[in-house]
This record gives sequence, C-alpha cells and structure tokens, in this order.
Amino acid sequence: MTVESVLITGTTTGVGRALLELYAAAGARVISVNRRRIPELEARYPAVRFECLDVSSDQEVDRLLRQLAESSELPDVFILNAGINRTDNDESFELSSYKSVIETNLYGALSFVQPLTRLARGSSARHVVAISSMVNYVGNPYGLGYTTSKQALTTCFDVWSRMYAGTDLVFQRVMLGPVRTAMYTMHETFPGWMVWIKNAFSVTPEDTARAVRRFATTRRRRLFYPWRALGLYVGMWLSRGLVPGFLRGQKTRAGHVRRLVRTAENDE
Ligand SMILES: NC(=O)c1ccc[n+]([C@@H]2O[C@H](COP(=O)([O-])OP(=O)(O)OC[C@H]3O[C@@H](n4cnc5c(N)ncnc54)[C@H](OP(=O)(O)O)[C@@H]3O)[C@@H](O)[C@H]2O)c1
Repeated sequence: MTVESVLITGTTTGVGRALLELYAAAGARVISVNRRRIPELEARYPAVRFECLDVSSDQEVDRLLRQLAESSELPDVFILNAGINRTDNDESFELSSYKSVIETNLYGALSFVQPLTRLARGSSARHVVAISSMVNYVGNPYGLGYTTSKQALTTCFDVWSRMYAGTDLVFQRVMLGPVRTAMYTMHETFPGWMVWIKNAFSVTPEDTARAVRRFATTRRRRLFYPWRALGLYVGMWLSRGLVPGFLRGQKTRAGHVRRLVRTAENDE
C-alpha cells in the first residue's frame, strides 16, 4: 500500500489544523505550510515537515515546490486552505486590507498552480484542492474582499478542472459552508439571528477534514460541504432575490446608503 502524502496550507488553527491531525493520525507523509512557527504544534507532530512561509509570496512558494521536486518529495495531494477574512463591505473599506485578503485567499492558492503545471509529471495523479466557500452563491454580510477572492478562486479551479480533466493533474474545489472555527466566529457583532443560524447549521473542523480527505481520493471536481446547511443556503439565496441589499453591503454609519449629492461645491 502506498503512503498518503499531502501538503496543507494554514494548519495553525481551524480546518487546516484538523486536516493536519487527521492525515498525521493516518500515518500520511505531511508537509505543513504556515506563515508562523508554532513550537507546540511542531513538538506534537515530529514526523510532519513544517515549512514557514507566507503563501501570498509566489517566490517563496515556487522555491519550496522546486526543492520538493528536486528531492522527489512532491506530495500527491495539495490542500490550499490558508485564508483570511476582513470586514470591509461598509465604510471601513481600505485598499490595503482588501489587497491582503486577495493576496492570501486567491494568489496564495494560485501561486501553487503555476509551478505544479510546469514541473515534471509523476507516475500517479496529483490532486490540487482549493478550499473555497458558499459565499460564491449566497453572499457574505461582512467581507467584500473575501467574497471576491473566493469567487475568483472558484472560477479558476472550475476552468482548470475541465482543462486538465483526464490528466494526472486533478483540480478540485470545496465549497465550504459554516464551520465552527475562529474565522466563522470572528465577528463579535454578529446579530442574534446569525448566531442561532451558526449553531444550527455549522459543523466541526474535524468533520470537515474527514470530508475533504475522502474527496481528495476521488476525481470529482466539486464538493459542497456540509449538506446539512442546504436549508440555510436556499434561505439566503431566496432572501438575496427578495430583500433589496440583503447580504450585499452594510449601511453607512449615517444609516442610509451614501449617494452622490449634487451641490454647488461639487460642480466647481
Ligand atoms: N470557517 C468557515 O465557516 C469557512 C467557510 C467557508 C470557507 N472557509 C475557508 O476555509 C479555510 C480555512 O478557514 P478556517 O475557518 O479554518 O479559518 P482559520 O481558523 O482562521 O484558519 C486559517 C489558516 O490560514 C492561515 N493563514 C492565513 N494567512 C496565511 C498566509 N498568508 N500564509 C500562510 N497561512 C496563512 C492561518 O494562519 P495564522 O494562524 O498565522 O493566521 C490559519 O492557519 C479558509 O480558506 C476559509 O476561507 C471557512
């Protein structure tokens, strides 16, 4: 039996951490890519290879992949999980914040793709799994950059999964719903109804990790997870159609959408 081998980005917390624990417990060869070192994590998993780099740096990612290729250590599965979320679809919008979300969530995954499509092929299939989000379909009450990044990521992986179909490069994407992680609970200002929904529909990172690992053994192009949140998605999707502005943007502090007011000053 061949040993599973996997590279996972963003394993310090949440889904990535659960994936690391799951694969390590199964005796897989694991390469973990984080932007910071966590000594306790490294001490707990001595067999895991920990690489410290920021996924938004395409040079650092390229260097790592070349090193792995040269030493014939490229894994069979890449799970591109690292991501961040920022509140920015209200007056707090800042270009630097928006950029950092795009650089991490979109370029942080795409930076793995270019080298992988150019490196010499192995004898077995190589799976490249992007962790995307259901915000693609249902919107997001807080993150404009987040939604944009996941929509672009999904579009790219959709194209590549068709383009490379039947080859040894298998592009897959996971459309993730609510998972109980720091990212999902980041907003202390969640309204009560959203907290209720979170508790009712969300799943654990451990359940998510098991579903992602199973998916990465198939050649399926897309996984929706969790299915239990289907009612939530349908409700949000319908609300977007029926309620103007629902999950599209926050009101300005003045309590209404800012409009361009034509004044004598503007005309000058
Ligand atoms: N939780 C949900 O409900 C949900 C829903 C849909 C999609 N997702 C997606 O699932 C993935 C995992 O999210 P999560 O919920 O597990 O969030 P999380 O607990 O906040 O984990 C995010 C991970 O990404 C790492 N990371 C962030 N920026 C990085 C960078 N530049 N380079 C390397 N690592 C970086 C973080 O490291 P640090 O500890 O250093 O910050 C952390 O390990 C994300 O792509 C997210 O968009 C989550």
